[in-house]
Amino acid sequence: MEKETFYITTAIDYPSSSPHLGHAYEKICADVIARWEGLKGKSVFFLTGTDEHGQKIQRKAAAAGKSPQEFVDEMHLQFKKLCEKLNISHDAFIRTTDETHVKVAEEIFRKVLEKGDIYKGIYEGLYCVECESFYLEKDLAGGNCPVHKKPAETLKEESYFFRMAKYSGRLMKHIESHPEFIQPAGKGIEILNRMKEGVKDLSVSRAGFDWGIPLPNDPKHVQFVWFDALLNYLSGLGYPGKKFEKYWPGVQLIGKDIVWHHTVIFGSILLSAGIPLPKTVLVHGFVNLKGEKMSKSSGTVVDPVELSERFGEDALRYFLIKEIPFGQDGDFSEDALKGRLNNELANDLGNLVSRVLALIEKNCGGKLPEGKVDKELEKALDLKKLEEHMEKFELHHALTEAMGFVLSCNKFINEKKVWELKGKELEDALYSLADALRIISVLMHPFIPRTSEKIAEQLGTKAGSLNEAKFGLINPGTKVKKGEVLFKKI
Ligand code: MSP
Repeated sequence: MEKETFYITTAIDYPSSSPHLGHAYEKICADVIARWEGLKGKSVFFLTGTDEHGQKIQRKAAAAGKSPQEFVDEMHLQFKKLCEKLNISHDAFIRTTDETHVKVAEEIFRKVLEKGDIYKGIYEGLYCVECESFYLEKDLAGGNCPVHKKPAETLKEESYFFRMAKYSGRLMKHIESHPEFIQPAGKGIEILNRMKEGVKDLSVSRAGFDWGIPLPNDPKHVQFVWFDALLNYLSGLGYPGKKFEKYWPGVQLIGKDIVWHHTVIFGSILLSAGIPLPKTVLVHGFVNLKGEKMSKSSGTVVDPVELSERFGEDALRYFLIKEIPFGQDGDFSEDALKGRLNNELANDLGNLVSRVLALIEKNCGGKLPEGKVDKELEKALDLKKLEEHMEKFELHHALTEAMGFVLSCNKFINEKKVWELKGKELEDALYSLADALRIISVLMHPFIPRTSEKIAEQLGTKAGSLNEAKFGLINPGTKVKKGEVLFKKI
């Protein structure tokens, strides 16, 4: 039987400067979801990458004394390295300067053109180069971009326009009749309200600079960088072709600042090109630093590579998912990270693993005894609840549920005083606890994959699928080997 498929993407990052914790957070959330769907037995395709065209990149490259291509060839490597450091399980890394991407962007532009959805006009208005986005006067704060707090630039130039307004009725109907299209639901309501104020046609070409994909009908113009970038979700999946047929549509995970681009702009382009809309545009909040959005332009950034080297990538992954309720903003602080690392990972989880394995080594010569599953411990596992949280993308609740089971195991040891038990009672308790650890290694895998593999290895088992997150599956006689400490306290 063909496996069910699951496609997930992140936004593609501007490699105009080094990645920060906000970029890391998005990749981690996507990775948790991708790994979870994999645990369920689906065939997963996970795409991430870099958004390499546009004026912002061109200016940064010039300031660095490099050609744009040289600049992005160097800079994108930092984003690849970030993925590696965070143990992100992406299947492909798309760059918008990849030839395959450029071809797709040209093809889709041509389709939209042939549909009669492109016309020439003059664009006069306000533009923030940092956002690579147009603004209306009313959306600026004292003339400044609301995100970057820098003056928007006045642009007046010839431009090609995309008949976006034409699709707003169809798109609004789709949003209203598909509550899963924009999640969490509040973001869908925000978009609908904004659409009700009116959707204008979109300027989709720029003639004032040349770092982009030339228009097929007028090569003096390059594609608006967002038009080009949004198409990565198609090109990264090998559009048009078998892989695309197999996996499209899927989930596009993005931050809350680019929901309009992904729902209204991308949605209209897809409708015009006759391609099905994404199943879900999934929106996360911001990682803040002392209440302010972390961003390079405001100078408030934390380096995720350095953090993962200092604290371990699993501690960072765990912290971000547990600390920030998915869909909302959350604050980063090193103290809070240390607190969760010391208390939850080292004390609750790490100690549980080392205690159980030490008891098996001491009392059973390192071989798992035969035993009966403890009914109380079995009841403490509420897999259904965890699954429901994941279905609703409540990653923080799902992780709390998994950690709740860890706490139940600790409570079981303490209340039963397992270290004082003898004979059959001891064997039943140790068998149950070892099986619980195996289940924990399955449930924790999406969140802290390396640690989960270490737990399975120390238990003498293999990381399993979600089907195996039930009691009674570990084999008596399995040789356990207590390994290095899972988390060192800081
Ligand atoms: N290049 C565009 C996206 C194009 S997708 C077709 C872009 N790049 S970005 O580098 O500015 O942001 C990439 C992603 O990181 C976005 O989803 C954005 O919301 C997210 N984040 C950037 N700063 C963030 C935080 N401080 N916190 C969490 N995520 C934020 O936009």
